[in-house]
Amino acid sequence: MSYQNITLNHEDKIAILRINRPKKLNALNRETIQELHEALTEIKDDDEIAVVILTGTGEKAFVAGADIAEFADYSVEEGQELAANGQDTLFNFIENFSKPIIVAVNGFALGGGLELAMASHFRTASTNAKMGLPETSLGVIPGYGGTQRLPQLVGKGKAMEMIMTAGMINADEAYRLGLVNHVFEPEDLLEETQKLASKICKNSMVAIKVAIQAVNAGFSYNQDGYAAEIKAFGEAFGTEDFKEGTQAFLNKRKPNFPGQ
Ligand code: COA
Repeated sequence: MSYQNITLNHEDKIAILRINRPKKLNALNRETIQELHEALTEIKDDDEIAVVILTGTGEKAFVAGADIAEFADYSVEEGQELAANGQDTLFNFIENFSKPIIVAVNGFALGGGLELAMASHFRTASTNAKMGLPETSLGVIPGYGGTQRLPQLVGKGKAMEMIMTAGMINADEAYRLGLVNHVFEPEDLLEETQKLASKICKNSMVAIKVAIQAVNAGFSYNQDGYAAEIKAFGEAFGTEDFKEGTQAFLNKRKPNFPGQ
């Protein structure tokens, strides 16, 4: 499939998905959101891909927010539709994606950009990254899950401060707060993130898929995370990956998971 606003490459089971509107600091317009959804749907069905790294083209920005030019004239109804459609098409889709998605924050991650990074399973950042939710400075609030996911990741008080001040934090502060897991020099960001992805690739993708579901269940208002974990744990015993993983351990060899 060919895309206008994103690029997709893959190597050794790791897909590199890039938002590719560098002249607009990779701002997320509707078309880009739709293309990301389509590319991820393609990835979901591709047995050659186990892990996704999502990043931005250029050295300046991951994503500098939702495309302000696109929504500046919207009505109340259009605003609600924009948020609902975006959450459904991309942000919740990423959070519940069956394969791990890591965002490599290669510069500004503002507004919808930080929301996109927070929807992924975990994040790395370059030393020049800057993150924030500046929506209140525009007279609006985060609409792609930011009011929910930022408190989950950094705590309610810090999230309130970031949303109210509309300020930016740097990569070190984001690391200290647990918003990103690792910080690398800009020239090392992709390679180091690929190393993390390679470590994931060695494990059972069948188990990782249900681990994602179990972790997310605990953050869902209508699910019991502990009950979801018990059910998924039991079901794992019926998989070929479990038989292979345990036999490999007992036979002192590396596993070769059939589920990959
Ligand atoms: N939506 C639409 N266009 C955006 C954008 C966004 N969120 N962020 C940046 N751009 C565009 C700029 O309009 C500019 O386009 P132009 O060259 O056609 O005028 C281009 O990207 C470069 O941005 P510029 O502002 O000139 O770069 P800068 O280095 O001076 O500033 C930022 C960088 C990130 C501080 C600044 O672009 C910014 O504040 N962006 C908006 C951030 C925001 O509020 N995001 C939340 C949206 S809800």
